[in-house]
Amino acid sequence: MKFFVDTAEVNDIRELNALGLLDGVTTNPSLIKKSGRDFAEVVREICDEVEGPVSAEVVSLDYDSMIAEGTKLSELADNIAIKVPLTWDGLKACRTFSDQGKMVNVTLCFSANQALLAAKAGATFISPFIGRMDDLNLDGMQLIQDIRQIYDNYMFETEILAASIRTANHVSECALAGADVATCPPGVLRSLSSHVLTDKGLEGFLKDWEATGQKI
Ligand code: G3P
Repeated sequence: MKFFVDTAEVNDIRELNALGLLDGVTTNPSLIKKSGRDFAEVVREICDEVEGPVSAEVVSLDYDSMIAEGTKLSELADNIAIKVPLTWDGLKACRTFSDQGKMVNVTLCFSANQALLAAKAGATFISPFIGRMDDLNLDGMQLIQDIRQIYDNYMFETEILAASIRTANHVSECALAGADVATCPPGVLRSLSSHVLTDKGLEGFLKDWEATGQKI
């Protein structure tokens, strides 16, 4: 499973990329707001740092304006994935961009039928929002499993990009369910290496080593 980081904070992206962990980056208008940075400037900086796809989202709702915005975004760098919402106009824009050979991430997916439409519209990525489904007592992980089954049934190449990931458990569950990509906040990615028994075991080993009086 590929790891994308879901942030517009360039320092976090640099740190995680230096570990060789990052296959791509996703941003959205809320993350741009949180960064306090100029959209085009920060997206260009991220694209310079990371080789993989960097999702940048259109903010218009009608097809013509989405095409104008997405075209502008795609000119920022070669590794831009244009992010469009899962609406009728968004799907139409997805088809146009896909026919032009551009990467498209169709976002705000909450049902298997929406994912089926995105695949038929030529999406590179479909973004089901796990955490926001869990917030409503809906089963986000079941959605990932259903999309996996549908895409495999018909050999769709659209990658399942699990989004709105909130916990380390979400990550392993997505991997088990066959998601192609998990896009995680930096804190969730960092938390993946932690285990209380690792810390406890290490403490015991170091205490015993010290008692031997030896050095390596
Ligand atoms: O990738 C989409 C993500 O940014 C949404 O996450 O936590 O706001 O639901 P969240």
